[in-house]
Amino acid sequence: MNNDSLVRPLVSLVGAGPGDPELITVKGLDRLLEADIVLYDALVSPELLEHARMGAELIYAGKHPGRHSISQEAIHALLVKHVQAGRRVVRLKGGDPYIFGKGAEEALFLKARGIRVEVIPGITSAVAVPAAAGIPLTHRGISSSFAVMTGHRTEDNRPVLVPQADTLVYLMCVSNLENIVRSIAGERGQWDLPCAVIESGTTKRQKVITGALRNIVGRSKRAKLEPPAVLVVGEVVRLRGPLR
Ligand SMILES: C[S@@+](CC[C@H](N)C(=O)[O-])C[C@H]1O[C@@H](n2cnc3c(N)ncnc32)[C@H](O)[C@@H]1O
Repeated sequence: MNNDSLVRPLVSLVGAGPGDPELITVKGLDRLLEADIVLYDALVSPELLEHARMGAELIYAGKHPGRHSISQEAIHALLVKHVQAGRRVVRLKGGDPYIFGKGAEEALFLKARGIRVEVIPGITSAVAVPAAAGIPLTHRGISSSFAVMTGHRTEDNRPVLVPQADTLVYLMCVSNLENIVRSIAGERGQWDLPCAVIESGTTKRQKVITGALRNIVGRSKRAKLEPPAVLVVGEVVRLRGPLR
């Protein structure tokens, strides 16, 4: 322990992994076991929270339809309040804290106030969810690159980004699936590209819908697809048959 760690309070920003509670890192689990306060997001598994020590305060800080949600400013204020009161604070986020998780925003806010932040990376759903469903994002001779994008709907419903990569992965894709699929087909000129949508990947509720760009929207509607889900597009989806 150096002088710095004796003097300045510390917030641990921990990645919880993609859903399966066993997919947190050893270091992340250690911090959870020691925490006095755990501020956790909507996608964190309830089973994982059972590892917090007796007496630790668990605060839901997620944004989820149908549940009371808390503003980003209120989350910042809670982190500052608890860490300055000398408590061991864990900010627990689904997947990896720095992938579409506002983790860096929170770290910058805390650092600007002289609070130390340690980041414990997590396994992101962007790679783990396809893998657990039997889809590798790269494969020799088929895919030597992948790109991860947000599929979030913009207010003016703009086309989504379609980079030059062999495999495309879209997070936050459910409400905007039709637009995403149209954007990719428009860019690539191919409606036959294989694709898969994976809901609640790595958990017991995992649902996998496969198809091609031309039929994935209809299949997803029939399967009553719901968030959280990841869309994977590319030839690697065909490997799911032999790999699963
Ligand atoms: C706000 S982003 C946070 C991503 C997270 N930081 C990560 O690294 O996985 C939430 C999105 O992650 C994806 N996601 C997270 N967990 C998932 C899961 N178990 N199954 C499918 N998609 C998941 C979904 O696209 C969801 O809308």
